[in-house]
Amino acid sequence: MLLNSKPRLELRLIGLCTHLATHRYASKSGDKVSNEVLQQMEDDFKNLSESKSKSLLKRHLTKEIFDKLKTKTTPSFNSTLLHCISSGLCNHDSGVGLYAPDPEAYKVFADLFDPVIEDYHKCFRKTDKQPATSFGKGKDFENLDPDCNFIVSTRVRCGRAIVGYPFNPCLMEKDYKDLENQICAATMSLTGEYKGSYMPLTGMDKVVQDKLIEDHYLFKEGDRFLAAAGASRFWPTGRGIFLNDAKNFLVWCNEEDHIRIISMEKGGDLGKVYDRMVGGVEALGKKLKFNRDERLGFQTFCPTNLGTSIRASVHIKLPNLMCQPDHMEELAQKYRLQIRGTSGEHSEAKGGVHDISNQRRMGLTEYEIIKEMHDGIKGLIAAECQAKSS
Ligand code: ARG
Repeated sequence: MLLNSKPRLELRLIGLCTHLATHRYASKSGDKVSNEVLQQMEDDFKNLSESKSKSLLKRHLTKEIFDKLKTKTTPSFNSTLLHCISSGLCNHDSGVGLYAPDPEAYKVFADLFDPVIEDYHKCFRKTDKQPATSFGKGKDFENLDPDCNFIVSTRVRCGRAIVGYPFNPCLMEKDYKDLENQICAATMSLTGEYKGSYMPLTGMDKVVQDKLIEDHYLFKEGDRFLAAAGASRFWPTGRGIFLNDAKNFLVWCNEEDHIRIISMEKGGDLGKVYDRMVGGVEALGKKLKFNRDERLGFQTFCPTNLGTSIRASVHIKLPNLMCQPDHMEELAQKYRLQIRGTSGEHSEAKGGVHDISNQRRMGLTEYEIIKEMHDGIKGLIAAECQAKSS
C-alpha cells in the first residue's frame, strides 16, 4: 500500500486505555480532527500536565505546542497528534511516550518531535543532519571480555522500515500480511551463515514461543507502551521471527518496526557480532527497499531509534559497581550508556545481570555509535575492577 493512497479513518487503538481504544482518530471529513478527538486530547493532556510523569513527552509538550499541533493531520494517512502521544498519555511512566504513526508525522509534528529527539539523542538539533551510513569494520573492536569474567552475551540490532508503508498505527491487516510475505521471502533467500527459517507467530506453539522469549530470541507479547500506541492491532497477524541455523542471527517481523535485524552470541566479541549484523543488513537490503530520510536517517516508529537505529548491548555482571548505584548511573551518563533490566526495557535485573547499551543512535555514523558503546563498556569494566580492589 502506498503512502499516497486514501487516508485511513478507522484507526483504532487496542491498549490499556479503554477510552482511547474505541474512538476514531480523525473525522469523517478527511483532513480535520473531530471534536471528540480534540476533547479526548485536551482531557488527557491536562492529566499528563498535572501528573508527576518524567517522560520526555511531558517535558516537551508545552501548552503552546499542544495548541499549535492539536488540529494538524498528516497528508497521506490523516494521523493526528493523538496518534503520536497516546502511549505517553496512557502510560505516565513512559521514558519518552511518543511514536510516529507514519513517516510524515516527523515533519507535521516536528515542533514536538524535534525537541524530544534533541533531548534523547543528546543534542541532535533540528538543524542537524544524520551522517551518511558508514558501517566501518568490526575487526577494529577488540573482544570486550576475552576471559569471560563480566559479559554474558553481546547483541547488536538495527531497525528498518520498508518504503511505501506507514508505521503500526496506520497498517491494516493486509499490509501486515504483505510486509510479512516480503520479509519472509527476503530472509529465506539468505545463504551461508545466514541460512535459516522463518517462523510466523500465527499458529506458533505456545511452548516454542515461550522458550524463544526466555532465550531472548523473540520479542515479548503485550507491551503496554506499544499497545497504547496502536502497535498491537491484528496481533499476531504478520508477526514472526527468522532464525539462522546457528541461532546467532535473527530478524523480527512487524513487531515495533517493520524489521529488526539482530546479531547475538555468548561472550563479548562485539566486532564479530557487529560484522554479522552488518552482513545481514546488506544482504537484506538487496531484496528490500529500506526507508531512509535525508535528515533523520533510517525511519523508525519510535523517535529513540532514528538515525542509525543501532542498539548495541551486553548482558553484563558488575557486582561491585552495582553496590554503588549512584556511581554506576554517573558513569552511564558519562559514557552515554543506557542501563536496562535483563529482559530488556521496563524489566528487572535478574541475578545481577544488566543489559547495557548505547543510549543515542543519531548524529554519529554506525561505526561511531558502536565505538561509543565499546569505549563505554570498557570504561565500566575498568571501574568494576577498581571498585573490587578498593
Ligand atoms: N515508549 C516507551 C517509553 O517511552 C519506550 C521508548 C523506547 N523504547 C522503544 N522500544 N522504542 O518508555
